[in-house]
Amino acid sequence: MKTFEQLDLDGQRVLIRSDLNVPVQDGQVTSRARIRASLPTFQQALKKGAAVMVMSHLGRPTEGQPESQYSLKPVADVLGDMLGQPVRLVSDWLDGVEVRPGELVLLENVRFLAGEKANDEALAERMAALCDVFVMDAFATAHRAQASTEGVIRKAAVACAGPLLATELKALEKALADPARPMVAIVGGAKVSSKLKVLEALIDKVDQLIVGGGIANTFLAAAGHRIGQSLHEADLVDTAKQLLERAEARGASIPLPTDVLTAERFHQEAHPSLRDVSRVHNDEMILDIGPETAGRLAGIIRQAGTVIWNGPVGVFEFENFRSGTGAIAHAVAACEGFSLAGGGDTIAAIEKFGIAERIDYISTAGGAFLEYVEGRELPAVAALEARD
Ligand code: 3PG
Repeated sequence: MKTFEQLDLDGQRVLIRSDLNVPVQDGQVTSRARIRASLPTFQQALKKGAAVMVMSHLGRPTEGQPESQYSLKPVADVLGDMLGQPVRLVSDWLDGVEVRPGELVLLENVRFLAGEKANDEALAERMAALCDVFVMDAFATAHRAQASTEGVIRKAAVACAGPLLATELKALEKALADPARPMVAIVGGAKVSSKLKVLEALIDKVDQLIVGGGIANTFLAAAGHRIGQSLHEADLVDTAKQLLERAEARGASIPLPTDVLTAERFHQEAHPSLRDVSRVHNDEMILDIGPETAGRLAGIIRQAGTVIWNGPVGVFEFENFRSGTGAIAHAVAACEGFSLAGGGDTIAAIEKFGIAERIDYISTAGGAFLEYVEGRELPAVAALEARD
C-alpha cells in the first residue's frame, strides 16, 4: 500500500477523502473529534505544497429532504478555525475545482451526488479526474464501497493511504493481531443482534469478554436470572448461552454482573435501587451495574495487557446510572497495557469522563471499527492494497 509520506506533493492537486461526518445541531458542530483527528493530514499536505481538496459525506441525506440540513458549511467554518486559514466550501465541484498550492477547499457533501452510494464507475472517474493524487484517509468510511471511497481509489492516477487511516489500521492490528495478554474486550450497548459478529469474533481471541447494557441483560437471562422489564432480546438468549459455553470451552470467561442498579421507569429522574442480580423485581429494569460488579470488572481491566472498549455498560446519559460506565472508563484509562476504544457512544463516554488523554488510541470509527474487529475485509482498504 502506497503511503502518503512517500509522495512528493509539491504543486500537486491532492484530493483527500476524509470522514468529517460529525454531529451538527442547529447549524453548529457539536463534536470536533473527527475534524481534530483529520487535521494533521491536511496540515502535512499543505506543508508539502499541495493544492488541497477535501471531500466527505455528512449524514444520510435522502431524496426530498432539504440539502441545507446536510451541508458541510458548519464543518468548513470549524475547519477554517482550526487550520487558521479560510476554508472555502465548493458546491459544484465535479467539473473542476479552482484551488492553488497552499490552499485547502472543502467539497460539498458527496452524498448529494447521484451514484455515490451505488459506487457508480463514471462518478468515481470524474472524482479521480480532479486530482493528481488521491489520498484515502477516511478510515471511518472504509467499510463502504462507494464512489468517493473504493471507486475513486481504483480510478485515480495515484492513490495512497492517508496518515490517519494508516494510524487507525496500525492500532487495530496491534490490539488484535498479536495482543499482549491478558486480552480484555468490553462490548456494551443495547443489542446482542447488532454486535453478535463482534462478540463471536472476540470470544475466540480474548481472555475475558465483559458485556454491558442490554447485551449483558440477554446474557443474564441466558445464565438463568430473572431480569424483569430489562431491555434484552429473548430470541437471542440461546445464542448467548452458546457464547458462554464457547468461552468456557477455551478457558476464557464472560464475567456477568453480580449486582445492578434498577429503576421502575426509563427516565433520567428515575430513582436507582441497588439489587443483587438474583433479586431484580418483576416491574424493574436494569439500567447500570452495581458497585461490587464495577470494582471487580475494573480490577480485570486494569490488569489487562490489551483492552478493547466498545460500548457503555449502563445508561450513562442519566446521571443516576452513569457510575458503572464511569468506573469502566477510569479503569481503561488506568490500564498500563495497550488501550483501544472506538464507536460513537464510547467516544461520548470518554469525553464525558475526561479520560481521552489516557487512552492509547481512540478510533474515529463506529461501523468500520466493528467490521474490522469482526475480521471483515474493508473494501476501501482492500482497494488500496490491490494498487501498486
Ligand atoms: C460513521 O459515522 O460510522 C461513518 O461516517 C459512516 O457513516 P454511514 O454509516 O452513514 O455510512
